[in-house]
Amino acid sequence: MSLSRRAFVRIIGGTAVFAAVGVGLTRCDRMPAEAVAAWNGPPAGETEPRRRALSYALLAPNPHNTQAWIADLREAGVVTLSIDKTRLLAATDPWFRQIVVGCGAFLEVLRIAAAEAGYRTEMTLFPEGPWPAKEIGATPLARIAFVADAGVAKDPLFVQVLKRRSVKIAYEDGRPIEDAHRAALAGAIELPLQVATAADEVATLRAIAKEAWLAEVATPRANKESADYFRIGADEIASHRDGLSFHGPFFWWAKRFGLFTAEKTLEPGSFAYQGAIDTGVAWAEQVWSFGWLTTPGGTRADEIAAGRDYVRLNLKATELGVAMAPLSQVLQEYPEMAGPQKRFLDFIKTPPGSIVQMFFRLGYADDVPPTPRRALDDLIRA
Ligand SMILES: Cc1cc2nc3c(=O)[nH]c(=O)nc-3n(C[C@H](O)[C@H](O)[C@H](O)COP(=O)(O)O)c2cc1C
Repeated sequence: MSLSRRAFVRIIGGTAVFAAVGVGLTRCDRMPAEAVAAWNGPPAGETEPRRRALSYALLAPNPHNTQAWIADLREAGVVTLSIDKTRLLAATDPWFRQIVVGCGAFLEVLRIAAAEAGYRTEMTLFPEGPWPAKEIGATPLARIAFVADAGVAKDPLFVQVLKRRSVKIAYEDGRPIEDAHRAALAGAIELPLQVATAADEVATLRAIAKEAWLAEVATPRANKESADYFRIGADEIASHRDGLSFHGPFFWWAKRFGLFTAEKTLEPGSFAYQGAIDTGVAWAEQVWSFGWLTTPGGTRADEIAAGRDYVRLNLKATELGVAMAPLSQVLQEYPEMAGPQKRFLDFIKTPPGSIVQMFFRLGYADDVPPTPRRALDDLIRA
């Protein structure tokens, strides 16, 4: 999530003090280079195959960019993936479904990158046994053996890994996704891709997405969970290299004036709180097609499969010049979301027992810059 400068300028209206000062300081408070260095790919000196593949995998999309991944390399030729329990989002993701979806995305990029280097990945999910229902267990999520295999098929999506983004800006006005693009996206994944482009359907989904966003902002513990991952200003971004980044002259000044701080976003009526509302509403409204991925069941394996297909879609979208970004609020399993969620599931007619794992905006938009990633060694246990 990121609050757009435009949303803030709209709130402060005629005074426009920040915008005016900001224009003169366009070089101020830039994204720190080291925070986005991972998007250049592994350094030339990085030759160990698992570390090279992990350098790509950590670019996977993941909830709130918490990067809750631990990769244990102590077994030769094997990556053992566990979840970093200090990076969960228990208020909005109480069953940790979304964190596991993010692990699915990580595993798929790992597989694609390993194949590119001539390694087949043999993946075993929950190698030490399943986790208790709706919990993150103490045991690994996956064991991935790297096997040198000259015949392994390379994935054409590899070239998109460094370019992939979650595009969190307004989408081109009145332009739903083209049929050919929709078909190409559907062809890149195994799960069925469901898409709404009809104006009346999209209007209903926009209204539900907006309602879900307002329900989230009105739920203090959900709101705080996001605020805890706000990184405001280049200094905070550089020291964390995760979460949701806000930088540039506008946010620099808003922070200095005490108008935009993590605490302020929790204070109803404040400039920052209203900014959060406006931004989410704009994301729900400035969209002309939605997509979603549904699994037949709700097992951890289903969540991993959804994450794998979600990142494949995102990579294929990058290739096609299609913009996409998740809008997950309505899928979240906390009580305050039950009303909007029921309206959503009834509207899209989800079969009983199946789970909508990802709901996302689809369309066309300008390019957006990459988001931070921590250093590879921060994820590794060796
Ligand atoms: C399971 C899942 C849920 C997500 N939900 C949201 C969301 O509700 N809103 C949003 O703006 N981004 C959402 N994202 C996207 C992440 O915020 C994004 O992947 C992360 O910030 C890193 O940015 P990047 O994808 O551009 O690398 C979600 C990603 C995943 C994997």
